[in-house]
Amino acid sequence: MNEYVKIKGMGYATAQRRVNNTDFTWLDTSDEWITSRTGINSRYVTETENTSDLALRAAVSAIEDAGIDKRDIDTIIVATFTPDMLTPSVASILQAKLGLNDCPIMAFDLNSACTGFVMAFQTVSAFIQTGRTKTALIVGAETLSKVMDWHDRGTCVLFGDGAGAFICTNQGTQHVASHFANSRGDLEDVLSAEGLKLQDISDAQPLTSGTLKMQGQAVFRFAVDAISDGIRQVIEKSGLTLDQIDYIIPHQANLRIIAHVASKMKIPQEKFITNLERFGNTSAASIPIAMAEAKANGILKEGQRIIMVGFGAGLTWAGSTVEL
Ligand SMILES: CC(C)(COP(=O)(O)OP(=O)(O)OC[C@H]1O[C@@H](n2cnc3c(N)ncnc32)[C@H](O)[C@@H]1OP(=O)(O)O)[C@@H](O)C(=O)NCCC(=O)NCCS
Repeated sequence: MNEYVKIKGMGYATAQRRVNNTDFTWLDTSDEWITSRTGINSRYVTETENTSDLALRAAVSAIEDAGIDKRDIDTIIVATFTPDMLTPSVASILQAKLGLNDCPIMAFDLNSACTGFVMAFQTVSAFIQTGRTKTALIVGAETLSKVMDWHDRGTCVLFGDGAGAFICTNQGTQHVASHFANSRGDLEDVLSAEGLKLQDISDAQPLTSGTLKMQGQAVFRFAVDAISDGIRQVIEKSGLTLDQIDYIIPHQANLRIIAHVASKMKIPQEKFITNLERFGNTSAASIPIAMAEAKANGILKEGQRIIMVGFGAGLTWAGSTVEL
């Protein structure tokens, strides 16, 4: 079913410290290996900011871009699997940091790992459709550096910290969205993380638990199928053809995954917006960061049709088409 939702504003926040491939001096790796296998040249890692701090900066920027009164926000959803603490939610912490304590707001976090932001968008779209929500702030925010084993060269070089945010409203009726989502909970071993710990990456000690564990090749194969399936499903549901889509914004995990999808589905690679070369994989933050950056650079414009498509731990995958 198609739903009406307007993305009125977008914003993003990069973490404080830029880490280039050549900075991994404690690992047996190389810039050449990382770049050729992933397309990633650098990523940003937090030094003092937690997930809610990055979320706040992205939210303020999205509110500014939308030109709304922040007091109109009635719903805050934060997609994350690296919250500041187990409870309260990052969404509630964010409400306080935005100075909206006296506003009636439904605030909660949503965890669907790297698919989380697309799930948050779908959730808010449904809330808007029913009239439950009028103005929503949705954020994808992660401090993945807390759950990295910084000695696991096959995993830690891929990820970064950051946040991206949208203001979504019920304004107008022309902004149609169609959605698809799926999950394979039995594949939890392929990508999982047990707990949350802050680490100083310059003085990182080997950790035995609580870190992100990944079967790289299995995730790679899953990712190619998940993105292709997500695109196909939302195209079918929307009644559009791929030619009518201006850009696809995939989860920013690996340039080779995106290239495989492009070649398999015969979609020109220029149709895929990527910024993983500079940001790495920021999980739930990756799609809104890529979109907000593309909007700020004048690539994404009013009236365009786009597909957001994510995949991640669960295993989960989801896609949405939306008219900007
Ligand atoms: C992780 C990934 C880059 C590894 O690339 P790959 O081509 O599959 O590499 P392999 O896992 O087969 O490893 C090949 C070799 O490189 C080594 N290697 C792994 N990481 C390395 C690194 N950073 N630097 C140098 N060598 C590395 C491996 O140890 C292995 O060595 P061996 O042949 O001596 O055993 C790739 O599988 C991938 O991107 N998968 C998807 C991950 C992902 O997107 N996760 C997030 C999902 S939300």
